[in-house]
Amino acid sequence: MHFPLPLVAAFAAAVLAHPGEDHSEELRQQRDFFANVERASLAHCAEQLEARGVNERNVKRRMAAIEQARNQRGIKKRDLDDVLNTDHNKTELGYTPSTPADILFAGQNSCVLTPEVTIGPYYVSGESIRRNLVEDQEGVDLILDFQVIDVSTCEPVPELFLEIWHCNSTGVYGGVVNQGNGDFNDKSNIDKTWARGIQQTDEDGVVQFETFFPGHYIGRATHIHLLAHANATLLANETLGNEIYSSHVGQTYFDQDLIDEVQSLQPYTRNTQPYTRNAQDIFLAMVANQDIDPVVEWTLLGDTVSEGLFAWYAYGINVTVTDKVTPAVFRYEEGGVANPDFSNGPPGWPPGGVPPIAE
Ligand SMILES: *[C@@H]1O[C@H](CO)[C@@H](O)[C@H](O)[C@H]1NC(C)=O
Ligand SMILES: *[C@@H]1O[C@H](CO)[C@@H](O)[C@H](O)[C@H]1NC(C)=O
Ligand SMILES: *[C@@H]1O[C@H](CO)[C@@H](O)[C@H](O)[C@H]1NC(C)=O
Ligand SMILES: *[C@@H]1O[C@H](CO)[C@@H](O)[C@H](O)[C@H]1NC(C)=O
Ligand SMILES: *[C@@H]1O[C@H](CO)[C@@H](O)[C@H](O)[C@H]1NC(C)=O
Repeated sequence: MHFPLPLVAAFAAAVLAHPGEDHSEELRQQRDFFANVERASLAHCAEQLEARGVNERNVKRRMAAIEQARNQRGIKKRDLDDVLNTDHNKTELGYTPSTPADILFAGQNSCVLTPEVTIGPYYVSGESIRRNLVEDQEGVDLILDFQVIDVSTCEPVPELFLEIWHCNSTGVYGGVVNQGNGDFNDKSNIDKTWARGIQQTDEDGVVQFETFFPGHYIGRATHIHLLAHANATLLANETLGNEIYSSHVGQTYFDQDLIDEVQSLQPYTRNTQPYTRNAQDIFLAMVANQDIDPVVEWTLLGDTVSEGLFAWYAYGINVTVTDKVTPAVFRYEEGGVANPDFSNGPPGWPPGGVPPIAE
């Protein structure tokens, strides 16, 4: 495992120098996480596939063979440059939101554990089971398919609750009031639910969301957060409540030229926050340098980006993991309530405003 630790430390320190901006927590959590991460290699999947005979999907066998060949020859694995230089635009292939899962996800690294990435300071529990997350928000339409694969069986995981959340087209998260997120004086933002939702995987381990392309905010490249729920119970009001366990917490990314095109459109152009490119995003680099490409494959829905996009990504997760999650905010029938345990900042900092710094 090779990731630029001194760079992380330097970046975290630089960010910490601006106390009004709280993304340092994302960096710190991430550094701590990578200090402990155990990378599952393709090797265990190759064994599984062999044990189950010759009928397994060719794609996975080929991937295992490539991995073995690389190892034997000492060839370097995928790194950030490879990810940045890969074009994920599959428009020419003619895929649509109804393309079968085995075709759509065939080329993806799905039987490898996708590295976990910090949950960050914007996770809100208690969100709704729903496919469409747009509400009143404006932005480029984005239909997203995620497939979840169990890395110990290399099979899809059905009936799993997968949750996503992302910022809006001007780089603000709904549902969280903190000093790094939009207008801190707009307390009504804590009750916003757009760009957040949960779906349950089907028999192919796939969920589909209809949302809009996220904007960007200081210190981070454009991304979408994702959480695979563990031990979830579906409540009568179509939520999973506020006691949350996860099998996987991740983030997913987009091609830089696609982001550039989206950002040239309204209302993305109204975003005045500094812009971080993929090549500068520390979390993207950490995942890419572990031989994982965290960028979605995608296709135009029409002839231009403004007509909307369809994107897809397959995650490899370890379904036996059940990590307790500490949300920044709990969502109840009455609205959002900042989690007091999430705030450990200096006196006077707002609840939910400054996440604890884990050293
Ligand atoms: C994004 O969300 C913030 C907070 O609710 C809001 O002030 C802003 O207008 C939203 N952006 C757009 C383009 O609607
Ligand atoms: C998750 O569910 C399993 C099976 O019901 C149980 O054994 C385990 O204790 C639960 N874990 C947590 C953290 O609740
Ligand atoms: C994606 O590919 C399509 C078809 O080849 C092309 O028309 C379009 O310009 C590409 N878009 C981007 C952002 O690369
Ligand atoms: C999955 O997680 C369990 C702990 O819950 C661990 O013992 C096991 O080695 C992990 N499996 C893989 C393939 O990472
Ligand atoms: C959903 O139900 C739970 C359990 O009764 C409750 O605590 C929560 O406030 C409800 N959430 C919403 C959004 O109605």
